[in-house]
Amino acid sequence: MDLADLAGRTALVTGAGDVGAFIANALARHGAGAVAVVDLDRERAEAVAAEVEAEGALGLAIEADLTDPTSPQEILRRVESSGRSIDILVNNAGIPPDYFSGERALLPFLETRPEDWQPLLRLNLEAILHLTHALVGPMVERHWGRVISIVSDSARTGDRNMAVYAASKGGTSAFMRSLASEVGRSGVTVNCVSLGTIWRSPEEPSEEDLRRAARDYPLGRYGTREDVASMVTFLASDAAAWITGQVYGVNGGYTYGL
Ligand SMILES: NC(=O)c1ccc[n+]([C@@H]2O[C@H](COP(=O)([O-])OP(=O)(O)OC[C@H]3O[C@@H](n4cnc5c(N)ncnc54)[C@H](O)[C@@H]3O)[C@@H](O)[C@H]2O)c1
Repeated sequence: MDLADLAGRTALVTGAGDVGAFIANALARHGAGAVAVVDLDRERAEAVAAEVEAEGALGLAIEADLTDPTSPQEILRRVESSGRSIDILVNNAGIPPDYFSGERALLPFLETRPEDWQPLLRLNLEAILHLTHALVGPMVERHWGRVISIVSDSARTGDRNMAVYAASKGGTSAFMRSLASEVGRSGVTVNCVSLGTIWRSPEEPSEEDLRRAARDYPLGRYGTREDVASMVTFLASDAAAWITGQVYGVNGGYTYGL
């Protein structure tokens, strides 16, 4: 028996990058009937939708800029035109902490400029508000739904040089907690998965990377995309029906919350 059987439900995953692709595939493998994949990059969304189809579910590739507040209505229209309603929303798309003006750099807050903050806040927080606002109403009406957002342990630790990123993820966690308390009576659960560093490079970790992982993580290694997908699949399933308003660390023990 599959503990996390998704029983033909329809899921929508934002971001078809490293982590999002694994989440979409895992949901399909565990019995989702359809998985819509939303990304700014059409080819990436199409590639992941094709993988979903190979797992036996309907795969829908949707090209959209989630920072455009009108995008949720178009996303909803695309899914509904396939005759389905979204049961499971995974807010995964996010800009990493080292994004500043298109450059990649981890900067102390005082070295950032206000105009650098907007992309992070718009995708990692505001876009989640817009999409969730559009998609949760129908879940409430149907008395079943799952909202899962991917956040980061940087919002719990106060890691240096990630202040604005941490603010965006902390804001999402607080939003999710409040939403959980509003929609719980309707059978909609709302949870976050908080990640430590997920190893995504096709190359093996260097000696220095391995030393850092051994020092920072009680489990002695960085996370994998499978580690994330497993938790999301569980939270999306009926097995997690009495779990809401929580932030689960998928972090090798990096942080701890009572
Ligand atoms: N990878 C890690 O170590 C790590 C650690 C902590 C948290 N996270 C979080 O996990 C999530 C997934 O991270 P990832 O490593 O897979 O990221 P990624 O960069 O590989 O993928 C992000 C995807 O989002 C898409 N995207 C970017 N802007 C968009 C927009 N405006 N509209 C639609 N799509 C857009 C990108 O095209 C990309 O495919 C993010 O929320 C990230 O903050 C990741």
